Amino acid sequence: MNVNPSLKGSTQVLLERRAKAIARGAGMAAPVFAHKAENAEIWDVEGRRFIDFAGGIAVLNAGHRNPIVMKRVQEQLDSFTHTCFTIMPYEPFVALAEKLNELAPISGEKKSMFVTTGAEAVENAVKIARAATGRRDVIAFNGSFHGRTLLTMALTGKIAPYKVKFGPFPGGVWHVPYPIEHKGITVEQSMNAIEWLFKTDVEASQVAAIIIEPVQGEGGFYVAPKELLVRLRKLCDEHGIVLIADEIQSGFGRTGKWFAMEHFGVEPDLMTVAKSLASGFPLAGVVGRAKIMDAPDPGGLGGTYAGNPVACAAALGTIEAFEKEGLLDKAAQQGKIVTKRLQAMKAKGKGMAMGEIRGLGAMIAFELVTEHGGSKPDAAGAKALAAKCLERGLLILTCGVFNDTIRLLCPLSAPEKIVEEGLDILEAALTGN
Ligand SMILES: Cc1ncc(COP(=O)(O)O)c(C=O)c1O
Repeated sequence: MNVNPSLKGSTQVLLERRAKAIARGAGMAAPVFAHKAENAEIWDVEGRRFIDFAGGIAVLNAGHRNPIVMKRVQEQLDSFTHTCFTIMPYEPFVALAEKLNELAPISGEKKSMFVTTGAEAVENAVKIARAATGRRDVIAFNGSFHGRTLLTMALTGKIAPYKVKFGPFPGGVWHVPYPIEHKGITVEQSMNAIEWLFKTDVEASQVAAIIIEPVQGEGGFYVAPKELLVRLRKLCDEHGIVLIADEIQSGFGRTGKWFAMEHFGVEPDLMTVAKSLASGFPLAGVVGRAKIMDAPDPGGLGGTYAGNPVACAAALGTIEAFEKEGLLDKAAQQGKIVTKRLQAMKAKGKGMAMGEIRGLGAMIAFELVTEHGGSKPDAAGAKALAAKCLERGLLILTCGVFNDTIRLLCPLSAPEKIVEEGLDILEAALTGN
C-alpha cells in the first residue's frame, strides 16, 4: 500500500498534536493514525498494515469501502448532499425506510425514521414510546450500553468510563439484572427484579418502555436467554409497555441474521439500528409498529442532518452488498471459524488464561481470567492483549462490565485467509510466541 510520503514518520508528531488539540475525554484504543483501508485491512500513516477485528466498533460488517457501497455513495455525491429531509424530502430516505420496514422482524404494518447516531436513535425510540403510551418511565438492564447523551447514559448500565462525573441523569429510568448464567444471574432473578420494581418504585402503568440489547455489546457480548425475551414480551403485552430492542451493535447481519431478535422468535415493538447499517457513514434509525411510530405529532421527530442522503445511499448500498455477497451466510461461517479457533486456543491452556467464550453468529467474545481454569476477571490482561495484538498488526477491542473481555468484529466480507491470519496473530499474542 502506497503511503503519502509527507505523512511517513509523522506518528509521534500526530500523537503530540492530538494530545494538544483534542479533549482528554476522547480516549484512544490504538495510538496509530489511519491512512487507508480496504475490506478488513487498514494501513497507517507509516505504511504498517493492520487486520481489522474492530470494525470501527461494529460498523464495518460489509467491510471498509465496500465497492457496492462506494458506488452508491459516489452517485449520491454527484447528485446532492443535503436538503434536510423534513425541509425537502428525497428518495433514498424513503427507499431505505421501505427496505428497513421489510427487514425488521416485526409483523404487521411498520414505519421507520432516521437520525444520525445510535444514541439519538435510542432517545427517539424512548420519545416515541412515551408519545404512544402517555407514560414516562423506562426499564433498562445492568451492563447495557445505549449511548453517551444524558438520557442514554441514564439508560446505560455501566458506570466507568461512560457515566463518571456526568450526573445527574434524567429520572424515570430503572435498572434490573441482565441474566448471565456463568455469573449465577438467572432469568427468574431478572423477572423478579421487574416485579419488585412494580411494587417498590414504579407502577407498571407508568412504564412506557423496556429496552434491551438482545446481545449486549459494550457490556460483554452476553446473549439474552430466549426465555427472558419471551417473558418480557408477555409482560409488556400484559401492561401495555413498549418493548424496544436496541440492535445497534447486534444488528445488521453480525449474528448471521439481519437482526439478533430473529434468533429468538420474539417481536419487539420498536427497534433501534445504527453502526453497520451505513458502513461508516453516520446514520441511525428507529423501526417499529406503524401505530406506535406514528404517535409523535408532525415536527416532533427530526434533526438537521437526520437521514443524510449520502448516508442513506450508503445504507442502501450496504443492504445490496449483503444480498449480493451473501454476508449473512458469511457471518455464520465466520462465527464458526472464530469460535472453533478460540476453543482450541483455550484448550491448549498456554500463555494468558482465557475464560468463557460466547456470542451469537460472528458476534464473538472471550474473557481473560487471572488463571487457567479460574473465573476472576483480568482487565489488565485484556488491555495488555489488545496492545500486544496491535504491535503484531491486529486491531481488537475490549469490552465487558469488568473490562475483561475481548470482542472480535472482523468484517463479514473478509476473506477466510485474513480471518485466519488475524486469529494466528491473536494466538501468538496470547501465548507470547
Ligand atoms: C447497543 C448500543 N446502543 C447504542 C449505542 C450508541 O451508538 P452511538 O455511539 O452511535 O451513539 C451503541 C454504541 O456502541 C451501542 O452499542
